[in-house]
Amino acid sequence: MNDFTKKIIEWYGENRRDLPWRESSDPYLIWISEIILQQTRVAQGYDYYVRFVSRFPDVDSLACASEDEVMRYWQGLGYYSRARNLHLAAKSMNGSFPKTYEEVLKLKGVGEYTAAAICSFAYGMPYAVVDGNVYRVLSRYWGIDVPIDSAEGKKVFAALAEEMLDKKSPATYNQAIMDFGALQCTPRSPNCAFCPLQEGCLALRKKRVSLLPVKRHKAKVVYRYFNYIYVRSGEYTYLHKRSGDDIWRNLFEFPLIETLAEIKEKEELLDLPEFLSFASSVEKVYSLHVVYTNVKHVLSHQVIYANFYEMSLPSCPLHLCGYERIRIDDLDKYAFPKLLCTFIDKHVFQKKME
Ligand code: ADE
Ligand code: SF4
Repeated sequence: MNDFTKKIIEWYGENRRDLPWRESSDPYLIWISEIILQQTRVAQGYDYYVRFVSRFPDVDSLACASEDEVMRYWQGLGYYSRARNLHLAAKSMNGSFPKTYEEVLKLKGVGEYTAAAICSFAYGMPYAVVDGNVYRVLSRYWGIDVPIDSAEGKKVFAALAEEMLDKKSPATYNQAIMDFGALQCTPRSPNCAFCPLQEGCLALRKKRVSLLPVKRHKAKVVYRYFNYIYVRSGEYTYLHKRSGDDIWRNLFEFPLIETLAEIKEKEELLDLPEFLSFASSVEKVYSLHVVYTNVKHVLSHQVIYANFYEMSLPSCPLHLCGYERIRIDDLDKYAFPKLLCTFIDKHVFQKKME
């Protein structure tokens, strides 16, 4: 075994994290954990994982659930297409989890990384994982500055990862290198002073640790301005289910007017055609006041600034095109993006308790 692999595995023996999905070799449980951890840190995903698998402990329970319920268990985790794909994939399995790498790779939402993780952890198959942690550790240790988001980079790192893999215990090695990247060779403050790989690490020797790994494209950030209208009419309010290809598809939200720039005054909102059309469809008489402004919500490639308005109506129409009328007390039965959860907790439910 080469020195790199040996030291990574030794390090893991002393520093490994005990995580619930590591106790099991059930491919279903490993799959769920890997999907949750795709874009979520362990600290944040841990409780979601525990709750999710206690409600959906196997393929069948997930396949039989409604999409709305699955989304509720995912609410707050972000990247909601993961939950939709999980649900679709579970339905496609006919009760049993696929047993070959090729079949696992075909599941919706499963790419090469996740397929390698599932097949190595659950079945002990010799597939090397290549995720952000692995790119970082390999690029630093071997001093490689080929961009990790280029076609060449993908090939170079996949080949190197394969070469470093401990073919006799792929599960241990894969967990080890991921933990090493997450705990020791971290993005911003790697612990080089106390690192068992010090001696052979080219980035350290050439003082290039902070420059690696190299990325070709830095994604551009888009700014968006959301104005939410929380309607209060007796015990009712209105919700809209997001659709289309945008963020938060299939989650619920209050009536929304999106603008290209920030709305600073209530009067500006009142003049917008979208607002006028909404207002005319509800009621002639209403009062509107600002509740929160400039709430910042950061997603991976978007920054959203949200304003919340409360609109009080003396009565409310039963049917409002594009919206569902629901009881305010039932708000906790719907899946919302985190931004709205915070508002509902702080403003709607908190106020009721006062
Ligand atoms: N991140 C992604 N998969 C993981 C796993 N199995 N253990 C710890 N962190 C992870
Ligand atoms: Fe990472 Fe520093 Fe260790 Fe090199 S010496 S592997 S850069 S932590």
